[in-house]
Amino acid sequence: MSGFQTNNTVIKWIEHRMPIFSFLDHSVGSGYPSPKNLSYFWNFGSLAGITLVIMIITGILLAMQYTAHVDHAFESVERIMRDVNYGWLIRYIHMNGAHFFFIVVYIHIFRGLYYGSYKAPRELLWMLGVVILLLMMATAFMGYVLPWGQMSFWGAKVITNLFSAIPFFGDSIVVWLWGGFSVDNPTLNRFFALHYLLPFVIVGVVILHIWALHRFGSNNPIGIDTKGPQDTIPFHPYYTVKDAFGLGAFLVVFSAVVFYLPNYMGHADNYIPANPLSTPAHIVPEWYFLPFYAILRAITFDVGIPFTGVVIIEAKLGGVIAMFGSIALLFVLPWLDRSPVRSGRFRPIFRLFFVLLLIDVVLLGFAGAKPAEGLWLLIAQVSTAYYFLHFLVVLPLLSVFETPKPLPTSISEPVLKGGGGAMAGAPAKPMEKA
Ligand code: HEM
Repeated sequence: MSGFQTNNTVIKWIEHRMPIFSFLDHSVGSGYPSPKNLSYFWNFGSLAGITLVIMIITGILLAMQYTAHVDHAFESVERIMRDVNYGWLIRYIHMNGAHFFFIVVYIHIFRGLYYGSYKAPRELLWMLGVVILLLMMATAFMGYVLPWGQMSFWGAKVITNLFSAIPFFGDSIVVWLWGGFSVDNPTLNRFFALHYLLPFVIVGVVILHIWALHRFGSNNPIGIDTKGPQDTIPFHPYYTVKDAFGLGAFLVVFSAVVFYLPNYMGHADNYIPANPLSTPAHIVPEWYFLPFYAILRAITFDVGIPFTGVVIIEAKLGGVIAMFGSIALLFVLPWLDRSPVRSGRFRPIFRLFFVLLLIDVVLLGFAGAKPAEGLWLLIAQVSTAYYFLHFLVVLPLLSVFETPKPLPTSISEPVLKGGGGAMAGAPAKPMEKA
C-alpha cells in the first residue's frame, strides 16, 4: 500500500483515517503493475463488472413499478413500457443488458480457456468465475419468469420439472420449489425475491474474484509470468484508458440494439400473457442457455446393464446430469489440463481443438433451438459427446503428448525487439503486437 502520494489535504485527511485511496491505487491505479502486453480480450472482465452495475441499477428501477403477482405481473410490465416515464428505456436496457452480459462473460470465459488463465496459480480465481456463471444463470432464469409471458411460464415449468428426475425425492422437491402444486403465484413471488437478491450475491463473489486476481495479477496473451518492471506498466493510466475505450465501443453496439433492435434477441411468445392451458409449439430458452438445453435433451436413452433390462439412470435423469455436469466439469478444468504451457499461442494442437470446441458449442446452440428430433438430435448427441471428450480425454492427453513451441524468455522480449528495455522508453505501438 506504500507509494501513494497526494498533496490534496482532504484526501490526506481521509487516507490517514481510512487508507482507501492507497487501496484503490494499489488495486486499479498507478500502483498496480500489469503485464504490458494485455490485448483487448482483457477488457471483458471490467466490461462484465460495468454490465453488472447497469443491470442492478435498471433492475432496482424496474422493481419500483413491477408487481409480482400472477394476475398483475404481465400488465405491470406493459405499464412500465407504455406509461412510466422512460420505462421502455429502462426495461429495454435491462432486458438487452442480460443478453450482453452473457455475450461479455462468454467471451471472458473463452479468453480464459484459450490463454490458460485457469492454470496455477489462478485456479481459485477461475473456480470463483464458474460460481459466478452459475449464479448468473439462476438469476437470468428467474428474471425471465417475471414478465409472466408464455415463455416465462412454460420455461419455468420445464426447468423446475427437471428436478422431478431426481430419484425418490424428485416430486417432493418440485412441489417445494413451486411452493404449491403448479408454477403459480408463490413461485412467481419467490423468483422475484431471489432475482432481486442474487445479483448482490454475484457482487460479493465478484469481489472475491478480483481479490484472487490481485494475488498474482493478470495472466497475459503469451501466458508467461512477469519477471520484473520491464514486463509491466501501471494499470492507470494505461489500462484505465484502454478499458474506457472498450466501454465506449461496447456502449455503441449496446445502444444500437437497445434503440433499434430491442426485441431482436427475445422470443415473441413472451408478449403473450402466460396461459397454463395452452402449451407453446416450441418451448425454447434464451440463446445463452441453448447449448446447455441441447445437452439436456441429447440424452434420449436409458443407461443400464446391457441385456438385463436393468435401468440405472433413466434418460431424463441422464439429461439433467449431463447438463449440470457440463458446467461442473469446468470446476476441475485446472486439473484436467496439466500442460505447463498456459497460452494457446504456443500449443499448436491445443489450438486446433480449441477451435473445434468453439464450433461444437455453437452447434449445440443451434441444436438447442430446434425440436429434439431427426438430424438436429443427432447433431446434439455428437456435439454433447465431443464436449465431454474435449475436457475429459483430449485435454488430459494433450497435456502429455503435445510438444509446445518454445516460449519467449520474458514478456518484454517479443514486445521490445531484443527484450528487457525500460518501461519509460517503450514506444506505444509495438506493445499491441505481443
Ligand atoms: C460478473 C461476472 C464477472 C466479472 C465482473 C468478472 C471480472 C473480472 C475482471 C475485472 C478480471 C480482470 C480483467 C480481465 O482479465 O478481463 C477478471 C479476470 C478473470 N476472470 Fe472474471 N469476471 C466475471 C466472470 C467470470 C467467469 C464466469 C469466469 C470463468 C468461468 C471468469 C474467469 C476469470 C479468469 C480466469 C480471470 C483471469 C484472467 C487472466 O488474468 O488472464 N470470470 N474477471
